[in-house]
Parts: sequence; structure tokens; C-alpha cells
Amino acid sequence: MPTIAVELTTERLRLRPLHTADAPAIAEQVNDWDVVRYTTSIPYPYDRGMAEEFIASQQKRWAAWSGKTVPEEEVAFVIERNSDRRLIGCIGLQPAEAGTGLEFGYWLGKRYWGEGYATEAVGRLVRFAFLDLGLPEIWGAAVPTNDASHRVMEKNGFVIVAAGERPSDVRGNPLPVIIRRLTRAQWAAAQATVV
Ligand SMILES: CC(C)(COP(=O)(O)OP(=O)(O)OC[C@H]1O[C@@H](n2cnc3c(N)ncnc32)[C@H](O)[C@@H]1OP(=O)(O)O)[C@@H](O)C(=O)NCCC(=O)NCCS
Repeated sequence: MPTIAVELTTERLRLRPLHTADAPAIAEQVNDWDVVRYTTSIPYPYDRGMAEEFIASQQKRWAAWSGKTVPEEEVAFVIERNSDRRLIGCIGLQPAEAGTGLEFGYWLGKRYWGEGYATEAVGRLVRFAFLDLGLPEIWGAAVPTNDASHRVMEKNGFVIVAAGERPSDVRGNPLPVIIRRLTRAQWAAAQATVV
């Protein structure tokens, strides 16, 4: 079955499916403790073979996903910068653990932090989730001390609803998380106030 072409664009970014040729850039950026420390499923250290396996499994998931519903397992998009076509990170969506709909996860290579890219990518997927998938709510979760991730969600309107923990085979113990939610009504109200 051919991979469907869900591609989402913003002013500075393109969100696209993973290509086999992305492995070196992913391995190089992910093999960084500062990038993986707050994630529950990315091993560390991280090498090119792991990136190749990740891409191959993602290509199967993309092939199985209609692009019109919440995927059964996490589907990741590459975050590519328009200006130089560089891969700067990944953003995934998966069935929500905390409620209905989906939940986001994301990372950016460290050299790309602090430019507003994650906020822009999350904002585009939020729009996709509400307008294309028609979901009533979406979710995010981050370790309490992951201030940058909380700020990204906060800037996109996500509101804290609970504390919890997430299992993590690769870290060896569960990670505490603060869980956030954005409802379509909250999002629509925020859009209406943007002139
Ligand atoms: C989380 C992450 C994706 C953010 O990417 P980014 O592109 O730098 O995010 P943005 O630039 O869009 O926004 C970051 C915001 O957090 C703020 N911030 C960054 N580090 C911070 C810190 N240590 N304390 C407080 N705020 C911080 C920034 O100032 C910015 O807010 P502002 O626009 O109000 O100034 C990136 O740091 C990352 O990849 N981290 C490792 C992986 C990870 O933790 N993923 C999330 C798992 S839940």
C-alpha cells in the first residue's frame, strides 16, 4: 500500500513523512542526552542503525494510516526547515493515554532550540487534529522539569489537567509527567481572538 502524502506546511516549516535518507540527520541529532532525557521511548546512546529501524517501522505505520483518523500507533513527521530543507526534528502523534483523541510528542536537534520551531510545528498539528481529523480534544504530557516543553504547550493553549506517570522501558523506570489538554472549543476561542 503506498504511503499517503500527508504534508503540512507553516511559514518556516514542512512536516512530512520520514525518508530512508533521514537516518544520518536523526542519529546525529538524537544522540544527545539533552534531547532524549525527557522522552520515554528514545534509547541513549543512539546510533544510525536505530534511526534506520525507526524509519522502517514508521514507513510501515504511515502505509497503514489513512491520514483521516487517529493512527493506531505513533506516527511521526519529520520537521524540515523550508529555508535550507534541513531536518531539524520530529513530531509524532499517537492515541492519547489520558483521554480520547491523540497526544503529541516532539524533539528538535539542540542547535535548533529557541527559535520557536517546536511551537510552530505543534500549532500546525493542532490545526490538523481539529480541522482535518475532527477531534474534540488533544493531549500533551511532559516531565515537570521540562520547562521548554511545557512552554511550547502553554503557548499553544494547552491547559494542565492532571499529574501522572508514563512507563519507560528505555529509562528503566516510569517518568513523572504533567498532563495537558486542549479542547477544540478552547482552541477555536483563541483563534477568534487573533485579529
Ligand atoms: C522541547 C523542545 C522541543 C522545544 O523546542 P523549541 O523549538 O526550542 O521551542 P520553542 O522555541 O518553540 O519554545 C520554547 C519556549 O520555552 C522557553 N524555554 C526554553 N528553555 C527554557 C527553560 N529552561 N526554562 C523556561 N523556559 C524555557 C523558551 O524561552 C520558549 O518560550 P518563549 O517563546 O516564551 O521565550 C526542545 O527543547 C527539545 O527538543 N527538547 C528535548 C526533547 C523534549 O524534551 N521533547 C518534549 C518531550 S515532552
